[in-house]
Parts: sequence; structure tokens; C-alpha cells
Amino acid sequence: MLISHDRDFLDGCINHVISINRSSIDVQSGNFTSWYENKVMKDQFEISQNEKLRKDIKRLKEAARQSQIWSDKIENTKNGVKVSGVKPDKGHIGHQSAKMMKKSKNLENRQNKAIEKKQSLLKDIETKESLLVHSLHHHKGSLIAVNNLSSYYGEKQILNTLSFEIKQGDIVAIYGRNGSGKSTLIKILLGLHREYIGEIKLANNLKISYIPQDISNLTGSLNEYIHKQNVDETLCKTILRKLDFVRELFEMDMKNYSDGQKKKVLIAVSLSKSAHLFVWDEPLNYIDVISRIQIEEIIKEAKPTLIFVEHDKRFVEDIANKIIQL
Ligand SMILES: Nc1ncnc2c1ncn2[C@@H]1O[C@H](COP(=O)(O)OP(=O)(O)OP(=O)(O)O)[C@@H](O)[C@H]1O
Ligand SMILES: [Mg+2]
Repeated sequence: MLISHDRDFLDGCINHVISINRSSIDVQSGNFTSWYENKVMKDQFEISQNEKLRKDIKRLKEAARQSQIWSDKIENTKNGVKVSGVKPDKGHIGHQSAKMMKKSKNLENRQNKAIEKKQSLLKDIETKESLLVHSLHHHKGSLIAVNNLSSYYGEKQILNTLSFEIKQGDIVAIYGRNGSGKSTLIKILLGLHREYIGEIKLANNLKISYIPQDISNLTGSLNEYIHKQNVDETLCKTILRKLDFVRELFEMDMKNYSDGQKKKVLIAVSLSKSAHLFVWDEPLNYIDVISRIQIEEIIKEAKPTLIFVEHDKRFVEDIANKIIQL
């Protein structure tokens, strides 16, 4: 039994899927792709069923409101309010209105029951809403140019005469085995590691939004963290909500978040920043499959300039238009 968010890896080894949904758990034979195709079909069916139910509920609510108005009118007649200029006969109207009142109340009750029943049929579907990336335009086409870069930790050489250019609109994946120097390269570009030789040219006043690989220092209040990062709280929380982050988490200490929830905070903060260049070091670690697909769609839609490290092969193939192999 294995738990993984990597689509290619799952397709390569599983023959059954146990999926834990919002209101049920189900088991299916097949791999990730067949499970996902079924899920999309089922969701589409449920979305159209939901739409139909919502329309029915609206119609029933309007009918129940009419019944209410009707029984109120009868009640007024009983209390001696003149109807069309004729003085009411209290005894007759009292009897008649009691009958009609009962009838309209029954109707109202029936309508309310029907509304409740329809509402219970509404399915809680995980919808993937689109998000907005705040990409800034830089007047220079070339944002980063690296020439013959080699790096070191003391005696140990990490990168060897690396050269590449990042132009505006590029989506660049840095590929390589564990320990090949991907994070080191990113840290050099950000000015966080200075043991290197070679030439690095960054465009003037380049604004970068960075997601580090490490999430271990994410503790304390989410609100304080968001403010410290100087991003718009509403926007950041809207992004988190869209990434399926439940509201109760907003008040919890981040040290009690799951690893995926911590990574989602980093992604939401990064996306809330206005930047020319997004630099993401393994952004999808621990992130669930649905959110991965959603993030992929955001990138395809918003086309930010992005340089990222990611071991999820499907994600790299889907979004990258340039690869730096270490
Ligand atoms: N502060 C450091 N001091 C000494 N060596 C380091 C330091 N940081 C990293 N290294 C070494 O440099 C090499 C590259 O590390 P880096 O973190 O860049 O790898 P990576 O490609 O990002 O790997 P991963 O896929 O595991 O994230 C590794 O062998 C690592 O042990
Ligand atoms: Mg790394």
C-alpha cells in the first residue's frame, strides 16, 4: 500500500486506488489515470445534477413564499380587514379561513420538506477554480544570464561551468539527482550562496518571488506570517481557500499543519507577491494531486516567468519550455 502524489509514479506501479473523498471512501481497480478520468466524469455529472437541484430548490422556495403570503392574507381577512369593500362575516370567514390556513400550511410544509430533501442531495464536489498570478512585466527581455558558473562548498565543487539564459516568459525546470546542486544554483541566483566563480547578470530591479525547498521553520500564526511577508491577506487567504485549505486552519499554529498545508502557505504567499520572476524549489512536495493539477493550470493560464525544481515528471513535461540539466 503506498501513498504518493506523483501521477507518473502511481501509474507505473499501482493496480488499485483507495480514494478518501469529502463524504465517502471508495476503492477502484486501475491506475491513477483511469481513476482520474472516472473522477472527472463523475464530477461533471454531479455538477450538472447540482445545477438542476439548485434550480428546483429555487422554484420550491418561491412557491413556499407564495403559500406563506397566501396564509397571511387569509389570517388578515379573519381579523376583519376589509376585502374589496365588503364587510366580513366573522363566523363564516373564521371557519373558511381556518380551513384554507390548514391547507396552505400543509402545502408550505410539503414544500419545505422537498427543499430539505433536494438540499441533502447536493454533492460536495471538489471544484478547481482558477487563480490569478501577479506577474510583472520587465522592460528587459532577458532576466538572467549565467556564464561558466562553478560553485563550491569549501573544497567540494558542486556546479561545473554552467551557462544559460532566462528570458521573460520562460518556464524553466532544473533537473538533476538529489545532491546535484539544484538548490545551490537557486541560492546563488538569489544571492544566498556566494562561493562561486563565473558570471551572473540579473536584470535591474528584478523582483523575485521565492519558495524555498525547506518548510521546517514555518511555525506560529498564519496572519503574522502573511503580514511579515508583506502580502495582501485577503488575496493570500483566497488563494489558500481555492487550494482547498479549510477555514479552521487560519487560526491554528502553523507548527501543527501537515507538510502539504505548509507548502500550500508558501505557494499562496508566493503567488500573492507581484514579481517579474517566480523561483520555486520543489513547490509540489507533499501537495495533493488535485492541487498539483490546479497549480499546473494556473501556470499555463497566467504564463509567469518561472524557474523551478521539481521531481514530478508529469508536472515538468506539462509546463516547462526549457530544461537545465545538472
Ligand atoms: N551548507 C552546505 N555545506 C556543505 N555542503 C552542502 C551545503 N549545502 C549543500 N551541500 C552539498 O551540496 C550538494 C548539493 O546540494 P543541493 O542542496 O544543492 O542539492 P539538490 O540538487 O538541491 O538536492 P535535492 O534534490 O536533494 O534537493 C549536496 O551534496 C549537499 O550535500
Ligand atoms: Mg534541493
